[in-house]
Parts: sequence; C-alpha cells; structure tokens
Amino acid sequence: MPRPRPPRPPRTSDRALITLDLNGERTPVAFAPHKTLLEVLREDLGLTGTKHGCELGECGTCTVLLDDQPVLSCLVLAAACDGRRVRTVEGMGGSRLHPLQETFADLGAAQCGYCTPGFLLAARALLERNPAPTRDQIREALSGNLCRCTGYLKIYEAVELAAARLRGETAEPKPETLYGLR
Ligand code: FES
Ligand code: FES
Repeated sequence: MPRPRPPRPPRTSDRALITLDLNGERTPVAFAPHKTLLEVLREDLGLTGTKHGCELGECGTCTVLLDDQPVLSCLVLAAACDGRRVRTVEGMGGSRLHPLQETFADLGAAQCGYCTPGFLLAARALLERNPAPTRDQIREALSGNLCRCTGYLKIYEAVELAAARLRGETAEPKPETLYGLR
C-alpha cells in the first residue's frame, strides 16, 4: 500500500514587494528577495546610472544615498529598504545639471566615467552636511571611492568649485586646473 505523501509546505511568494522613496517619487518594486539594492536599482528599476563594480564593498562605484547617507548599494539588501529614501545619480539634476555634475565635466574630473556616479553621490552628501569642506575633509569623504583614471586631484578641485558655487560665490576654475602649469 503506498505511503501517504507528506503535506506540502505552504507556498510562499518568491518576490519581495517594497516601496521606495526614489529620487523624490514613491516607487513600488517587486524583486527576488535575495537581491541587493544595487541589483534592484539596475535590474528591476532600470536605473543603470549606479554602477556595478567589485560587489565587495571596496570600490565605491555603487554608492547611493540611503536616508541621505552614502551607502554601498552592493552591500545593502533591498528588502531592508522599504519606505526609505533613496537617491541615485538619475535624481541629481533637475531641468539642468547639478553644480557637481557641471564641475566634474568642466574640470575633467570624469574620464571613463565609471566611478563618477559614486563620487557625485558621496560628494553631494558631504556638501549637504558641510557646505565649506577643507581639502582634507573632501579627501576623507571620498576615500571609499576608487578612480583609476583621474589621479583624484581634478575630483577634489571639482568638489571645491561646486561647493563655492553652491554657497553663491562666483567661482571659476583656475587656469592651471584647466590647462596645466605653463
Ligand atoms: S560595487 Fe559596491 S563597493 Fe564596489
Ligand atoms: S573616471 Fe575612470 S575610473 Fe574614474
């Protein structure tokens, strides 16, 4: 006589459903529950401005702002972000570029650009809490972000110039920043 089959476990959904405050818009999203915030942004929401780098918390290219703090989105479980405020590079500009985006472009602080979204978000968080950072404070705030193109100097100068413009100062890049020492 065949043995009775054990009862099936109750079916559980294979999708997590959360709602983000994403770049100022209430955004519901469903996804496989093991996914990181980086994966959900890129794969489920189509926001590919946040870059996929080491996935080990070492390069900073996946930096976004979570409740206004810079986080490495490759290390954050998306399921832990329900109801939270997420800002990505797609939300930086409005009808025109954010001053940081302008100065990164004008000063050559973005070359291949792969690291740039992470730097922009980390710099934005810094300038929101400290409108007049010193060079050392900028260096420290960006120390978790790696760039293999610029040598960092242009990035620091771009943050300083954007900070001055955000303070309402009329600031232009130094000629030696644009054209090098003569
Ligand atoms: S991809 Fe997240 S720190 Fe490198
Ligand atoms: S601009 Fe290429 S890695 Fe930073």
